[in-house]
Amino acid sequence: MQNKQTILKSAGIIGVGKALPDKIVTNEDFVKLGLDTSDKWITERTGIKERRIAEPGMGTADLAVKAGQAALDNAGLTPQEIDLVIVATTTPDYPLFPSTACLVQDRLGIKKVGAFDVSAACTGFNYALTTAAQFIGTGFAKNILVIGADCLSKYVDWTDRSVCILFGDGAGAVVVSEVSEGYGILASDLNANGAEGDILITKGGGSKKPFSAEMLKDKSHFVFMNGKALYKVVINSIIPTIENTLKKVNLTSKDIDYMVPHQANLRIIEYARKKLGLKKDQVYINIQKYGNTSSASIPIALAEAVSLGKIKEDSLLLSVGFGGGFTWASNIIRWGGIKKG
Ligand code: ACO
Repeated sequence: MQNKQTILKSAGIIGVGKALPDKIVTNEDFVKLGLDTSDKWITERTGIKERRIAEPGMGTADLAVKAGQAALDNAGLTPQEIDLVIVATTTPDYPLFPSTACLVQDRLGIKKVGAFDVSAACTGFNYALTTAAQFIGTGFAKNILVIGADCLSKYVDWTDRSVCILFGDGAGAVVVSEVSEGYGILASDLNANGAEGDILITKGGGSKKPFSAEMLKDKSHFVFMNGKALYKVVINSIIPTIENTLKKVNLTSKDIDYMVPHQANLRIIEYARKKLGLKKDQVYINIQKYGNTSSASIPIALAEAVSLGKIKEDSLLLSVGFGGGFTWASNIIRWGGIKKG
């Protein structure tokens, strides 16, 4: 657990947005493609019914730009008012450079302010949001565009039934700005355990094993996941991070109004919901529509929950993420408190 922080200014979310590719791939589509799976297996084990897939030629930045613009519109800000861009992604358009954040900064017409990517797999959005809160807290930035965007469908072996059925593509975005005292990101908890990195790993295509003809044969450029091991690690970490975050602001799970969790597996979400004593209508679930969109899953869910009126002024919101690294994190947010003018 991290130390208590000295917050100079309260940082909160003042706008939300999302973007998803049009192409829908249903569970039945996998069966039609000849994969040895079924709608029943996928639905029962994961909760997923369909996912959105980026067409060839569409990259993570295309979705990030759309989600970013939607969040700006929702916040009522122009791109010129943004003074920092943070993009959480593990599937950048280009493997080395430029970063996805730089592409977003240019394509949205944002001034030549700082722009960088954060890499923490499916926990990326929680890491990026926590990072943004520090920049607002110290007064370094006034309005930060924080985006979670991923196209993991481009990195899965579409003949590997244990992985390809899980992921979808998408982007979600928020604008983080100073809000009234007592509102915004009240507490955060970030964690990593690199010793468990092997359970979700892409072994090829990086500096250790650069692209080669051999790699294309051994398929090491694709996502490898030990699903069972990952499931256990997630189950053991999800409640402790939530408790750590709540403890920092002297709150308990009884105080939570609404939870927006990472959408990786319905059974994991249900486990957390029951442990926290939350009712079904206190948790946002859209995994059935989009699958696991990695760092995009929480901000997409946030955008939908806000537009449906599930999160309102004064709601105490819990956001929890987990993923490759192994990384896990959570944020407690008091919704609202937007400063006028
Ligand atoms: N269709 C049919 N059968 C399948 C499929 C499929 N798509 N995939 C695997 N199976 C089979 C397996 O081969 C196995 O068969 P066997 O018993 O004959 O060996 C059987 O189903 C059970 O497989 P398991 O992997 O043990 O299934 P499990 O119940 O663990 O569910 C799952 C797999 C859904 C992946 C689960 O382990 C899980 O959700 N893990 C956590 C994933 C996660 O949290 N990811 C978050 C991070 S992702 C990120 O950061 C990018």
